[in-house]
Amino acid sequence: MDIKALIREIPDFPKPGILFRDITTLLRHPEGLRYTIDSLAEKSTDLAPDYIIGMESRGFIFGTALACQMGCGFIPVRKMGKLPAAVHTVEYDLEYGTDRLQLHQDAIAPGSRVLIVDDLIATGGTAAATVQLVEQSQGELAGFAFVIELTELKGRDRLPDVPIISLIEY
Ligand code: PRP
Ligand code: ADE
Repeated sequence: MDIKALIREIPDFPKPGILFRDITTLLRHPEGLRYTIDSLAEKSTDLAPDYIIGMESRGFIFGTALACQMGCGFIPVRKMGKLPAAVHTVEYDLEYGTDRLQLHQDAIAPGSRVLIVDDLIATGGTAAATVQLVEQSQGELAGFAFVIELTELKGRDRLPDVPIISLIEY
């Protein structure tokens, strides 16, 4: 199935010069959504994760569906100030300035295997920050799974040497 055809392109969003890859048109397509989750699950099975970690907010959508499909738990990484219990925090670079991501300190049992899932990898800043949160929790990083990889931005070069799955490349 050609899921690339289901992803809409919006020029100059959220700012001039950015070609935004809009996954909402994939999400609303029943067979496209099913195929996407099945494909991620099939490619991730050998990584044998105990948990899927998804980053706010689009990582929640694919991460939770994948966790359900694979029989794993789901753990959210959230933007600053949203998680209620004790947290680990990491600061990361955006195109302009910095932002912070947080993970509950007791979410990952030490030594358990985690798969980091997001809709898209661009510069890799969000995924690299999430790796730091996994390390602070003493989790074992099983790999990464993305629906979309923007290869020109070389995000995977910022990630550790574990399997990196992506379904679609631009
Ligand atoms: C988008 C996307 C990834 C991140 C990728 O999220 O969902 O999480 O950017 O970019 P990077 O590889 O350069 O870090 P965004 O921060 O826009 O948040 P959203 O999911 O809430 O829209
Ligand atoms: N996140 C970072 N870059 C993006 C892009 N070009 N489209 C959608 N989400 C993004």
